[in-house]
Amino acid sequence: MHPITLNYEKSSNYIKEGDLAAYAAAIKQCHEMLHQGTGPGSDYRGWLDLPANYDREEIRRIKAAAEDIRGQAEVFLVVGIGGSYLGARAALEMLRHSFYNELPADQRGGPRIYFAGHNLSSAYMRHLLDIVGDKEIFLNIISKSGTTTEPALAFGLLKDFMENKYGKMEASRRIYVTTDRQRGKLRELAEAEGYESFVIPDDIGGRYSVLTPVGLLPMAAAGIDIEEVLLGAQAAAKDLMADDWRDNHAYRYAAIRNILYEKGFITEILVSYEPQLASFGEWFKQLFGESEGKEGKGIFPAAVNFSTDLHSLGQYIQEGRRHIFETVLNVEKSSEEIRLQAGEIDMGFNYLAGKPLSFVNEKAMEGTITAHVKGGAPNLIINVPELTPYYFGYMTYFFQKACALSGYLLGVNPFDQPGVEAYKKEMRELLR
Ligand code: PA5
Repeated sequence: MHPITLNYEKSSNYIKEGDLAAYAAAIKQCHEMLHQGTGPGSDYRGWLDLPANYDREEIRRIKAAAEDIRGQAEVFLVVGIGGSYLGARAALEMLRHSFYNELPADQRGGPRIYFAGHNLSSAYMRHLLDIVGDKEIFLNIISKSGTTTEPALAFGLLKDFMENKYGKMEASRRIYVTTDRQRGKLRELAEAEGYESFVIPDDIGGRYSVLTPVGLLPMAAAGIDIEEVLLGAQAAAKDLMADDWRDNHAYRYAAIRNILYEKGFITEILVSYEPQLASFGEWFKQLFGESEGKEGKGIFPAAVNFSTDLHSLGQYIQEGRRHIFETVLNVEKSSEEIRLQAGEIDMGFNYLAGKPLSFVNEKAMEGTITAHVKGGAPNLIINVPELTPYYFGYMTYFFQKACALSGYLLGVNPFDQPGVEAYKKEMRELLR
């Protein structure tokens, strides 16, 4: 399998070879901090060796639970927020049919999957109940702390609904809990109610947890081959071990982000040309936003889906204030192929007859990169061979490692999120 690689040729006006060389010593030092556990937040590095240390018994239980869910559920509800939600959603959207929930049951091969607990909207909850109320429901509540307001309230409502529908015992059989091994209200509830539960390891924080049961159970319930996901992560862990930026694409990316940041490019936009990657962009925003945005520092992470957003944000990116660089996810092989036919495209595009639509998408990407670079937005290109479970595992590990190193280069603790508490405190006071 090909690795994921970073190409920064299109940013050569902004990044000189000397810039990276000047970072070489700092990269080695931050690599040591990360791997030896001498940096801030070192208690939360469990994700680093996770691919080599999977708990095989936990994987077996995840697969068994997923089989039960796939065999019996019409609807699988995944309840969580932030790191307990975004990774699973990114995986499902990247690896499943774009209209997965709308497919006939025999083509889907498993339950429809809906998310809850990632907002406090009454309309969302009412509409969700309208859709799932008369279906066979299974549910996975995911919360490491077991105290987060949004999933706690959504779970309370859905649990009540399921207990009224099925009775307490049958509802308990249909509820799976993913939480801390020992701590928190959700762990207590799981023990008291006899829910089957999965563990989020102590040394893995929310936004680094997608390759734990947090992401793996929803993926397996959707029929995604989680062994392939784990293989991809293992390959990434092996490929991204070097402490030299020339041999480590994740570190090269981390260093270039910091170089651009120092040159005034304080906003990074993750760009994809596949709508299947839209939620991956949301996962990316949380990973980098919570890891780096602190102490008055940090690149602001954004995400767009082109060509859709070329017709909204494209104008700003091309000609607005110059503080943006782009990181383009270049998917080398489209998961589907559709050929354009003459007659179907006679609004002036007949010259494209016979070409695959992915060819047009590719030219849109190349043209956009050229235009944006000319307009003053450096572009980095991350080459992803294809959108498969293997590369989902590889990509998530790649970005996690880049993020951790980038945070250390920036001089912050990439594993805490003290600022997230501020709104919770204000909200709780108002609620009380
Ligand atoms: O990265 C993090 O730690 C956070 O974004 C959490 O994932 C998020 O706040 C949800 O927390 P919990 O899993 O405790 O409900």
